[in-house]
Amino acid sequence: MRRWDCDERTAYPYLKWAGGKAQLLEEFTRRFPPGISDGSITHYVEPFVGGGAVFFHITQKEGLAASLICDINPDLCLSYEVIKDDPEDLIACLQGLSDSFRTAGESGQKEMYLNVRDEFNTRAGVDSRSLSRDERVFRVGQIIFLNRTCFNGLYRVNSKGGFNVPFGKYRNPKILDANNIRNASRALLSTTVRCGDFSVCGDVAGAGTFVYLDPPYRPLNQTAFFTSYARDRFFDEDQVRLAAFLRELDRRGAKVMLSNSDPRNENPDDDFFDRLYKGYTIHRVPAKRYINSDGKGRGEIMELIVMNYEPQDVGGRKKVGLAKWELGD
Ligand SMILES: C[S@@+](CC[C@H](N)C(=O)[O-])C[C@H]1O[C@@H](n2cnc3c(N)ncnc32)[C@H](O)[C@@H]1O
Repeated sequence: MRRWDCDERTAYPYLKWAGGKAQLLEEFTRRFPPGISDGSITHYVEPFVGGGAVFFHITQKEGLAASLICDINPDLCLSYEVIKDDPEDLIACLQGLSDSFRTAGESGQKEMYLNVRDEFNTRAGVDSRSLSRDERVFRVGQIIFLNRTCFNGLYRVNSKGGFNVPFGKYRNPKILDANNIRNASRALLSTTVRCGDFSVCGDVAGAGTFVYLDPPYRPLNQTAFFTSYARDRFFDEDQVRLAAFLRELDRRGAKVMLSNSDPRNENPDDDFFDRLYKGYTIHRVPAKRYINSDGKGRGEIMELIVMNYEPQDVGGRKKVGLAKWELGD
């Protein structure tokens, strides 16, 4: 994997994550609420944080006092906690995994990948609070190792929670990026991590808070329901529940932005989100979809951005330091 457009002090997502929003940062930034630039917004909440492209961007560029991030995926949440609290131990762990991988040779690398995956899966579903500090660090080292060396950088688990992505055969994957881990750790210092359903974030939002909601996509094709994140799927009932959550945040005075893929990509008459978010500002912007279950469906689609405010900067161009990932060498 290779990353570019990076500077030495800025943290970027340390995991490649399905649905990652690095490619949309420019469109989002132009639509951030005015309170971000005038300083009246001091808190940031992201209940579906995933790889954290928006979180890392906004918390480092804008002077926010504190943030709350959340995700339903317990291994992902553990990774944020360990990076925040134990970056140096994690770096040492990844150094060991990286050295072993380099010296394993071509056939040995696949074997090593499968061993790490098996070992990782023996703890699938285990409550991370029952793990010792070393075990927590080691598990996060495994997550990052698997993410960098697996096929397509997917995170996909089976019905029992076992990680089941095949080996990726990249020539020279960057398993350890010590600088980025240290930067991410710093970026997380004023951040609280919660694990669970998005509703566990409802208590913190009020005036002075910006909430960005990036739920799992509503599947473009209803017959091919694909989620690569976790066992928990996000059905239309959940989208409806989320719309009620957004309306509640709105009542409390929070500024809220939500994104999702536009169902009109598939069916021009599908107005599911237009009905759900009636009364709010809805923009449609072009996006690329990179990861799908079978590689089909890649290409340009429209993404929806819903806001409970009028953005002020949609006409201009604002250069954003995008964190882009490329699979390959
Ligand atoms: C589209 S991804 C977010 C991607 C993220 N914006 C990024 O740039 O990487 C959606 C995330 O929602 C999480 N998720 C799924 N169901 C959830 C729920 N009910 N509550 C909170 N998070 C959930 C998934 O684990 C996944 O990480």
